[in-house]
Amino acid sequence: MPHHDAVQYDFDTPPDRRRSHSIKWSRVAGRDVIPMWVADMDFAAPPPVLQALQTQIAMGDMGYAAPWPSLMSAIVDGIARDHDWNIDPDWIVLLPGVVSGFNLACLLAGEPGDTVATLTPVYPPFLSAPHNAGRKLVRSDMVQDGAQGGRWVCDFDDLAARCTSRTRLLMLCNPHNPVGRSFSRAELSQLGEFAVARDMLICSDEIHCGLVLNPNTPHIPLATLSEDIARRTITLMAPSKTWNIPGLSCAFAVIPDAALRRRFQRAAEGLMPHTNVMGLIATEAAYRDAHDWRLALLDYLRGNAELVQRSIASMPGIRTTPVDATYLAWLDCRELPKEKTQNPMAFFEANGVLMSDGRDFGAPGFLRLNFGCSRTLLNEALTRMQHAIAHI
Ligand SMILES: Cc1ncc(COP(=O)(O)O)c(C=O)c1O
Repeated sequence: MPHHDAVQYDFDTPPDRRRSHSIKWSRVAGRDVIPMWVADMDFAAPPPVLQALQTQIAMGDMGYAAPWPSLMSAIVDGIARDHDWNIDPDWIVLLPGVVSGFNLACLLAGEPGDTVATLTPVYPPFLSAPHNAGRKLVRSDMVQDGAQGGRWVCDFDDLAARCTSRTRLLMLCNPHNPVGRSFSRAELSQLGEFAVARDMLICSDEIHCGLVLNPNTPHIPLATLSEDIARRTITLMAPSKTWNIPGLSCAFAVIPDAALRRRFQRAAEGLMPHTNVMGLIATEAAYRDAHDWRLALLDYLRGNAELVQRSIASMPGIRTTPVDATYLAWLDCRELPKEKTQNPMAFFEANGVLMSDGRDFGAPGFLRLNFGCSRTLLNEALTRMQHAIAHI
């Protein structure tokens, strides 16, 4: 049973994004193609967020903003309420984006030429961040665990074999984009202990933590696992994915260790712009006043995730795994007949559905489907995919 009045919010009639400046929809401008790629949702931002932004607009003040106490306590209280993590406001470093945050973390990883490990497939900017910082990337491919419904898990033997004494940073994505995992306490402990044993830094991108759909796998912030793990961890969070405000460029790092925090801040000096006033206003309203909206959203997304699972199960040649978290489904298209689907992204785009190409995530033959949209649009996209496969 939903724990609130889900009809209070209407996710069935989203704004018409064809007429907006959306990246997602402008790629399909003038074409009958449903965009299910870049990770934002087609829903309007939560009413309290829009209201807070409107109040600021009415004041007319678009100057530089200094973070204020009720903003910081909205973040602190929201993280305690949603993730059972009590953080000190001093641990928070505001950022204009999570991607900036993990690129900065790479600059702190040992010396140029040292390596940064990550679990692949993964959100594409993870693959370039080490290089941007003059470090090298170490990829460890996740494997599917039959005992866990085919869910993707870390292959610890592989990870250990690939890391050397020059691997100075472990970059994690939890919940994981694109495989949709919300990692268990046991898995996270093993990853954290792995980094402790090798005296590595950890950067934990938890941007999707508010989007856990599976009640059996609640989000566990990595830094809550032990003191040893916390003092080497840079956690990155943001209101952007959960409350659908990524265009407002607002995020933050949580860094409990004062020395590590100072190194991170020093690396940012002169490079990181101020967080913008509208993003900060929206952040406060999202964490403090849009809790009900988030719960209603999760109910809606659970319905969409079930529809995706059912529908993909009826498509020969495509396999997927249950989505614990995120509004992203990871589709294994490697068994589609090769003649016409050498490039699965191009095949489905030609048939009216645009998804993200697995190659960008380090996994050719896969697609990422964004189901953060109205049920009607999702149904239409899945029907187009079924037809496309039936007529290969
Ligand atoms: C795992 C992950 N990290 C970071 C981002 C982007 O963060 P930002 O826009 O704050 O740089 C995304 C967006 O899809 C993401 O999925």
